[in-house]
Amino acid sequence: MARHLITSAIPYINGIKHLGNLVGSQLPADLFARYQRARGHEVMFLCATDEHGTPAELAAAKAGKPVAEYCAEMHEVQAKIAEGFRLSFDHFGRSSSAQNHKLTQHFAGRLADAGLIREVSETQMYSHADGRFLPDRYIEGTCPNCGFESARGDQCDNCTKQLDPTDLINPYSTISGSTELEERETKHLYLRQSEMREKLAEWIDGKTDWPILTTSIAKKWLNDGDGLQDRGITRDLDWGVPVMKGDEPWPGMEGKVFYVWFDAPIEYIAASQEWVDAGKGTDWERWWRTDKGADDVTYTQFMGKDNVPFHTLSFPVTIFGSGEPWKLVDYIKSFNYLNYDGGQFSTSRGRGVFMDQALEILPADYWRWWLLSHAPESSDAEFTWENFQGSVNKDLADVLGNFVSRVTKFCRSKFSEAVPEGGAYGPEELALIEDITKRVRAYEKHMADMEVRKSAQELRAIWVAGNEYLQTVAPWSTFKEDPAKAAVQIRLALNLIPLYAVLSAPFIPDASASLLASMNAEDTAWPDDVTAALSQLPVGHAFTVPEVTFRKITDDEREEWQERFAGTRD
Ligand code: MF3
Ligand code: ZN
Repeated sequence: MARHLITSAIPYINGIKHLGNLVGSQLPADLFARYQRARGHEVMFLCATDEHGTPAELAAAKAGKPVAEYCAEMHEVQAKIAEGFRLSFDHFGRSSSAQNHKLTQHFAGRLADAGLIREVSETQMYSHADGRFLPDRYIEGTCPNCGFESARGDQCDNCTKQLDPTDLINPYSTISGSTELEERETKHLYLRQSEMREKLAEWIDGKTDWPILTTSIAKKWLNDGDGLQDRGITRDLDWGVPVMKGDEPWPGMEGKVFYVWFDAPIEYIAASQEWVDAGKGTDWERWWRTDKGADDVTYTQFMGKDNVPFHTLSFPVTIFGSGEPWKLVDYIKSFNYLNYDGGQFSTSRGRGVFMDQALEILPADYWRWWLLSHAPESSDAEFTWENFQGSVNKDLADVLGNFVSRVTKFCRSKFSEAVPEGGAYGPEELALIEDITKRVRAYEKHMADMEVRKSAQELRAIWVAGNEYLQTVAPWSTFKEDPAKAAVQIRLALNLIPLYAVLSAPFIPDASASLLASMNAEDTAWPDDVTAALSQLPVGHAFTVPEVTFRKITDDEREEWQERFAGTRD
C-alpha cells in the first residue's frame, strides 16, 4: 500500500470560482485522490481557502463586513460548493487558521536564522483617509507620458508605460478617492531567493518525469534574470499573519503582515494540523516530516500554470531554507486555461459558468465528466455549449446511460429482475473480455500518470465496447431462437454495469454509487482480474432497473444557458 499526499492550489476567498478554476486544480486532484483510494492506497487530500491579501480586504469592504466575518462566511460558501461537486478533501482548511499563523511565523524565524531574510527600507504612498499604505495598483492619477487621466500606479493602460505611483500627476486612492497621499518610509522583509538558485536548478533538473508545462515555466523563471529576484514577503495591511520571528516580536515590523503568497502554500501543511485538531486524524507529521515517517509518501500538487513559479521556486525556497526535514513535492501536475465560448471567463463581467450556477442547472457528474474529459492539459481548452451538450448526450446518455437501461430493461421483460441462468461464453464474450481487460490496464496506467484526457478516452472506450458487444450479439433477436444464449449475453452485460460503476467512480461518483445500489453491488472491488469481476453477479442475483442515469440536454436548454451566461455587466 502506497501513501499519497495530494494538494490542490487553494482558491482565493473573494468570490465563487468559475469552471476554469475548478478544472485547473481541484477537480483533477479529486480524480487522482479518488483513483488512488479505489486502488487501496492511503490518501491525504488537502485544500483550503486562501484568505489573506488586499483583494480579500477590498471584497469584505465592498460587502460591508469585517474581513474576518466575510472570510468565515465565504469559506462556508466555498466548502458547500466543493461538497456539491463531490470534491473529496480529507480537510478543507483556511489559510487564516491559528495553525497557519503559527507555522508561517515559524518558517519566517527559521529563514531569518539561516540568513535568508534581509530588511529593506523603501518609500511607499500612505493614504491618510484610508489610514494605510496603498499597493501600487490602488493608486491612480494622470499619466506623465500621455496625459491619460486614470493611469494606474504600476502602469498606464493607455500608453502602456511602466510607472511608479510617485510619477503620477494628481494621484488619488482608488479605495476612497482621497488625494491626501504622502510618501513615507517603510521597512519590509525580503526573502533572498537568489541564494538558492543553484539548489533549485539542480532539484528541477532532476525532475525529468514532470509535465513539460511545469518544467518549462520553472526553468524560464529560474534562468530569466528577473525570475529569481529577492522577493518582498511583508505588506502593510491589517489582515494577514502578523510578522513575527517564530514566537518573538520582530523589531520594526510592528503592524505588518506576511505577503499572502508567503503564507498560502504553508497552509498545505497547516491544513493537516487543522485536520488533526478537528478530530479527523491523529498524526499529521507522518505526512509531512521525513524524519517522522513521511519519507515513503508520494506528494503530488495540482495547479493552474500561473501558480507554477510559486510552487517550483518560492515555496521550495521556504522549505529548503528552513533546514528542517519537510516533505518536498514529488510531482507537479499543472494545467493550461479553460476559455469560455470564444473568449475568457470573466468574474467582473459575470461571463461564463461559476461553480454555484453550474450546480443549479445540472448535477455534478455532468460537469465533472465534461471538464475532465476536456481538461486543458497540452494546450488551452474551450468550453462551448454545443460541445458540452454533445458530450453529455453522447458519452453519458447514449453510451453509458443507454447501455445500462437497455440491458436491465431487457432482462426484466424477458427474464426477471435477477441475473438469468443458462448458456456458456462463446467467442464474442471471450473477445469482449479480452478487449476490456486490455483497456482496463491502459486506463489504470493513464490514471496513475495523471493523463486526465487519455484516462477519460479510455474509460469511454470501455463503455463503447459494451455497447458494441450488445449491438453485435443482439440478445433481443437471439432470445427468439436460443433463450439460453441470450441469457449468457445478458448475464455478461449485467456484470459490466458494476464494473463500469467502479471504473467510472473517480469521474462520476454519484452515478457510480447509484448504479451500484441498483445492481445491489455496493461492495464491488476494483477489477484486478477482469474475468473474475465479470462473473461477480451470480445467477439469481437480484437488481432493480435504475432510474434514468443521465438525461439529455435539449437544444432549448442549450440556447437558454448560452444566453444566460454570456455576461451582462460592462
Ligand atoms: N489562491 C491562489 C490562486 O488561486 C493559489 C494559491 S496556491 C498556494 O491562484 F500555493 F498558495 F497554496
Ligand atoms: Zn500614458
